[in-house]
Amino acid sequence: MTLTATPAWQALAAHAGQMRPRHLRELFSEDGDGRFARFSLRHDGLLLDFSKQRIDATTLALLRDLAEAADVAGWKRRMAAGEPINHTEGRAVRHMALRAGDAAPAEVRSVLSRLQRCCERIHSGEWRGFAGQRITDVVNIGIGGSDLGPRMAARALSAWQQPDIAVHFVSNIDGADIAPLLGRLDPRSTLFVVASKTFTTLETLTNARTARDWLVAAGGESAVARHFVALSTNLVRTLEFGIPSDQVFQFWDWVGGRFSLWSAIGLPLALAVGWHHFEQLLAGAAALDRHFIEAPPADNLPLTLALLGVWNSSFLGASTAAVLPYSQSLSLLPAYLQQLEMESNGKSVDRAGRPLAAPAAPILWGEAGTNGQHSFFQLLHQGGRLVPCDFIALRQADFPLAGHHPALLANCLAQSAALAFGQTAAEAEAAGTPEALVPYKVFPGNQPSTTLVLPALTPYTLGQLIALYEHKVFCQGVLWDINSFDQWGVELGKQLAGRLSPLFAGHGDPGAFDASTRGLLAALTGDR
Ligand code: F6P
Repeated sequence: MTLTATPAWQALAAHAGQMRPRHLRELFSEDGDGRFARFSLRHDGLLLDFSKQRIDATTLALLRDLAEAADVAGWKRRMAAGEPINHTEGRAVRHMALRAGDAAPAEVRSVLSRLQRCCERIHSGEWRGFAGQRITDVVNIGIGGSDLGPRMAARALSAWQQPDIAVHFVSNIDGADIAPLLGRLDPRSTLFVVASKTFTTLETLTNARTARDWLVAAGGESAVARHFVALSTNLVRTLEFGIPSDQVFQFWDWVGGRFSLWSAIGLPLALAVGWHHFEQLLAGAAALDRHFIEAPPADNLPLTLALLGVWNSSFLGASTAAVLPYSQSLSLLPAYLQQLEMESNGKSVDRAGRPLAAPAAPILWGEAGTNGQHSFFQLLHQGGRLVPCDFIALRQADFPLAGHHPALLANCLAQSAALAFGQTAAEAEAAGTPEALVPYKVFPGNQPSTTLVLPALTPYTLGQLIALYEHKVFCQGVLWDINSFDQWGVELGKQLAGRLSPLFAGHGDPGAFDASTRGLLAALTGDR
């Protein structure tokens, strides 16, 4: 039986019919002050307020029935036990093992201690470049999961930035990414971190070769060993590239790219913020893992977040969702979550290969508040589309400046309230709006949101935050009955690019391509 045919799914579909016309104003007035307490959870300093979701107690109960019907608990056990739940690639999914501290597998602990030593050598100045200088700049070359995690986290933890070292990130194959950076750097004091799980990714290898040529031009072939390290599962390819094996930090095929921040892929972050802080990030994630594994469904933050997301997209019909961190330091979180959620759950066949009755993951997007307020929030308020939002707020500022943080937080609360409750024509009139303008000043409201409050943005709470979303994605994959850990959808475009590349160099026959592609190729190569 497909999941959508189960009694649990059907019961939710029927209940959604009753809930769709209901307004958050009505739900709040029915529940009174008790609604916040009833629909919020606290755990280890985190507060998840989902009282502004379009739910009642029945919705939550039915969603939890769905979690039981989908066997979330069983899939959690299978993931934790290292079963190959990524069945299309025959791989286990063990990113939790990367942050398990003393309980981590020996190979994980061994790589972590080598990474720590590497960090210490660089921070202390023991690691020297080809001309005897200490390393002042680190360039991470990677893309997707080998870029977004450390890039986002390094930005998020900029208040913890180590002195005397700058960490840069290059991902795009467009020369406009690496060229201006190399123009500013000194090869004598620059270390390249080539981060690629497979070590076959075109963008990363192209950038790495450019970096290598730039370095060799200044310091000769022998400089490569002092200025390159690799983070990869592919020890053969890293050696072929010329990186000595003691400078290759390994991870394993049971670490999905978008779940790899906790592995050797975290090296640039550790270099940016220091090893101790990297360990705190792991500790925060591990604490959230324990909560996810142990907490009953009614108290479980990731499961709750997942259920609300499924409710909004599969039952209320939202095709998109926004993440709105009221934190400039978390400005890259939406980009990070786009890969995490959409590469994991942007699927349309179930685990048995059958078409899904409805698409799975919504389109995720977002922007740091308050910037988003001055661009797309207009559509959220009056555009007539259902866009569930996750607001993220920090109790304490990471960069406390007089007057800034209270204003930021006031905006965060104002937006979620305005989206939920809107403004009626009568209210607009009562506020003195001229009659002709009243229709323009009506805000329909009923836009659902969840607000996550962190006590502060620290390495520990960032670890909690990321693990929270990782487990949300896992639960949603189970609820939609899909494999969240493969990404076949990225392959076709890569294959076509491989066939098109020679044509740009004038080799091969474009005849096999469609008329549009041939026309564009001609336009781009100047050959009319
Ligand atoms: O093309 C998608 C993808 O495979 C992602 O899943 C991955 O994070 C990214 O490319 C980078 O891959 P790699 O780390 O192997 O270079």
